[in-house]
Amino acid sequence: MLQLMTLDLAKKAAGYKAVEHIKNNMIVGLGTGSTAAYFIEALILACKKGLQITAVASSEKSQKLALLGGIKVVDLNEVSHIDITVDGADEIDAQKRMIKGGGGAHVREKILASASTKVIIIIDETKFSSSIGTVKLPIEILPYGSKITQKKIENLGFQGKWRTTQDKPFISDNGNLILDLHFPIPPSSPENLHLQLKNIPGVVETGFFFHLAHTVIIGHKDGSTRIL
Ligand code: A5P
Repeated sequence: MLQLMTLDLAKKAAGYKAVEHIKNNMIVGLGTGSTAAYFIEALILACKKGLQITAVASSEKSQKLALLGGIKVVDLNEVSHIDITVDGADEIDAQKRMIKGGGGAHVREKILASASTKVIIIIDETKFSSSIGTVKLPIEILPYGSKITQKKIENLGFQGKWRTTQDKPFISDNGNLILDLHFPIPPSSPENLHLQLKNIPGVVETGFFFHLAHTVIIGHKDGSTRIL
């Protein structure tokens, strides 16, 4: 319990620090997850104090949080660019390669990040890793022919497990399934594996994120932050 509380403090520290990068009239991309939720909380407070921004959200959940706090949220198709996106990560290495999708929102998160002039990743200190692949890799998959898609993925030599919620298949905001891939040892080339996976019909997107993190804010359990 104490461990959870201190981790929460680290996430909150990173989320609140990121708000310092948000300026008036920016179009802001909202990530998804518990750390991104702290950023949204801090953004709501800043907007209540007079900051004026327009947001686009990477998930229904984040959109709801922002709207409840009075933030103006528009559809991604209504904007021509995003100034800055702030999002969490499940794992990140020194080259800022990431695994995302623990919350099942990585497809929209990747679209937002790739459309953003700047991407700030906010993490607690436990997310930093010497090589990505120690956590499961989420893969979003079309329900149509999903068993065939799963077989092709597992033929690459990995074991996948369909994500569930309350004993039912987890369905993403895009209406798709998530297969979580377990690596006995971290893949030697995540970039090659990403390409191999993307080549399989039925795979919508993997949780590998390359060249998409510009700044990383690491929150520590004592409430301090460090920029990478
Ligand atoms: C959501 O799909 C993910 O990419 C999250 O950004 C990631 O899982 C980090 O979530 P937490 O901040 O809850 O750890």
